[in-house]
Amino acid sequence: MSALNPTIDDWRGLRVWLFGASTGIGAALARELAARGARLALSARSADKLAALAGELGSKLAAGPAPLLLPCDASKDDSLAAAWGSLLDAWGGVDVAIYLAGDYTPMRADAIDMAVARRLIDVNLVGAIAFTALLAPQLKAQRAGQIALTASVAGYCGLPKSLVYGASKAALINFCETLYLDLSPYGVGVRVINPGFVATPLTAQNDFTMPALQTPEQAASAIVAGFASGAFEIDFPRRFTRVMKTLALLPYRLFFPLVRRFTGL
Ligand SMILES: NC(=O)c1ccc[n+]([C@@H]2O[C@H](COP(=O)([O-])OP(=O)(O)OC[C@H]3O[C@@H](n4cnc5c(N)ncnc54)[C@H](OP(=O)(O)O)[C@@H]3O)[C@@H](O)[C@H]2O)c1
Repeated sequence: MSALNPTIDDWRGLRVWLFGASTGIGAALARELAARGARLALSARSADKLAALAGELGSKLAAGPAPLLLPCDASKDDSLAAAWGSLLDAWGGVDVAIYLAGDYTPMRADAIDMAVARRLIDVNLVGAIAFTALLAPQLKAQRAGQIALTASVAGYCGLPKSLVYGASKAALINFCETLYLDLSPYGVGVRVINPGFVATPLTAQNDFTMPALQTPEQAASAIVAGFASGAFEIDFPRRFTRVMKTLALLPYRLFFPLVRRFTGL
């Protein structure tokens, strides 16, 4: 079967926009891609953390262009547009754009906090759509380049405590599927990144043992390996994502009791 996406084996000189790069998986990916010679633009709200990361990258790496720092709030259209404008002014285009911004708060049905719910949907879903709205016309005009949006295995099926987070990620997976259909005819790569559990500030609040937990560095390696393949989905670790995919395929009369048994909730 032919590859669904163009592959990337050599990152040297590629212009990569990492959105959500101040901590966690995004920061680890910035380190990994800088070491592989990519030119980076880094975004998140925390300008101080982005500057510290850029300083770290600059001190470790051989001479190369310093990362572009584009502090930005994904939930504000004008902030996103300004960051995109600065990137275009500096680079004139982009080769790879990866949206890793995300927010998570465990939530159950008897305590739905609408302010938190709106924030999660805003960052995890609407921000990713707004990011795509800026990039898609440029990538289509370039007839080259790739966009990847980070969802989650929590988007495969309903899981306890994931009442709103899971819904935002399920919608994002669906969005990516349609985006692929729209952009791939123009030679543009489209991918969805579905991590399992990764030890980052986002999951630090979990009060349960996270199965198959990975480090941000392992996640970054898996993402780079995903881009070296032509796959649409970059999911990791496979031993965990396979179980979750199988669970999601089961009829509900088996699915619900199994989820209860596995999670004890
Ligand atoms: N860790 C996991 O187990 C796991 C599993 C599945 C999926 N994921 C997904 O992977 C992605 C990365 O998560 P992570 O675990 O690396 O979490 P993280 O360390 O908390 O990183 C989240 C990033 O998003 C940025 N961000 C949050 N809100 C933003 C906003 N409004 N505008 C711009 N940037 C914003 C944060 O920076 P600022 O706070 O500086 O803005 C930070 O750089 C997320 O989409 C997450 O849902 C994570």
